Amino acid sequence: MKTIDIRSDTVTLPTDEMIDAIVAGHKERRFGDDVIGEDQIVIELEQKAAQILGKEEALLVTSGTQGNLISLFAQTNRGDEIVVEERSHTFLFEGGSMASMGGLYPKPVKGVRGYIQPETLLSAISPDNPHYARTTMVCFENTHNYAGGTITRPEQVKALAKVAHENELLVHCDGARLFNAAVALDVSAKDLVVEADTVMICLSKGLSAPVGSVIAGSEEFIHEARRVRKRLGGGLRQAGIIAAPGIVAIEKMVDRLREDHANAKLLYERLSKIPDLIVEEPDTNILFVMLDNMDISALKLSEELKKRDILVYGAYGTRTRFVLHRMVSRDDTLRVADVVEDILGVS
Ligand SMILES: Cc1ncc(COP(=O)(O)O)c(C=O)c1O
Repeated sequence: MKTIDIRSDTVTLPTDEMIDAIVAGHKERRFGDDVIGEDQIVIELEQKAAQILGKEEALLVTSGTQGNLISLFAQTNRGDEIVVEERSHTFLFEGGSMASMGGLYPKPVKGVRGYIQPETLLSAISPDNPHYARTTMVCFENTHNYAGGTITRPEQVKALAKVAHENELLVHCDGARLFNAAVALDVSAKDLVVEADTVMICLSKGLSAPVGSVIAGSEEFIHEARRVRKRLGGGLRQAGIIAAPGIVAIEKMVDRLREDHANAKLLYERLSKIPDLIVEEPDTNILFVMLDNMDISALKLSEELKKRDILVYGAYGTRTRFVLHRMVSRDDTLRVADVVEDILGVS
């Protein structure tokens, strides 16, 4: 039986078109040394990404984590305070790197469905007084993974950025799944980051590219980001091998994210009928279920699912996350629903 892997959209494998694009790049002799700016495919990806994101320039980086770090390090100084949402990826899941590697002090605040409300930001900005670290940036995540793939709408970004900019803070968007938000709202990715100074997008999540992320912002920012990327060991040579699938990702794979959202909704509709199971209605492709009122732990549920060839992460306390993506069809989704119902004793 096919294993259904709904641990994350990062498990998506590259499409045939992506592999063909790598081969075409080789045949057309377009690869070059990107550290010295000679890989034609990387240049094409960066130009296309900058245009899609409405920024002056863009830069290919190895991963989302590296993209976030570079965005922070290129624009802040050691000792600065960075406002982050308390369940954000930058705060929880990047190894504490902003502190350990950049000397930055993360100030976590509580969001509403992952969104940092403007008044929350305002009250988190430290006074300009020697007792305090200097607050120089706010990071927001769109979609917000741990809050449940939740969306921050353009007007919310605008309100947040207004408070940030009025207080001389920069705004960085962790847009690992920005295109999920764009597709769900039927707006362009650009509309979601007009007010952000910098943005990071991942090519390798729902968009299915094998490797890579892109950061974008002003020409001045990218100039400095290039230096920081080199410092972090992220300068790659024939990086067109990564960029070629990345171009396919941003040009061809965005619209189909709707299918993942529809499957997440389908799963929600089935699972929300299970008595005592708390299920959050998904905005996009990520669905969390809470087992607080049930006689089974998240770990146990993950073990039972694994016995039936369904993979989920079991380490979210009483919460279990299901992530829908290209490699999980509607039929697979229905099978997940059947199996969860079976394990929880309701079918
Ligand atoms: C919201 C968010 N930001 C950043 C990242 C980091 O991306 P990467 O795994 O490529 O470092 C992830 C990865 O899952 C993520 O979900």
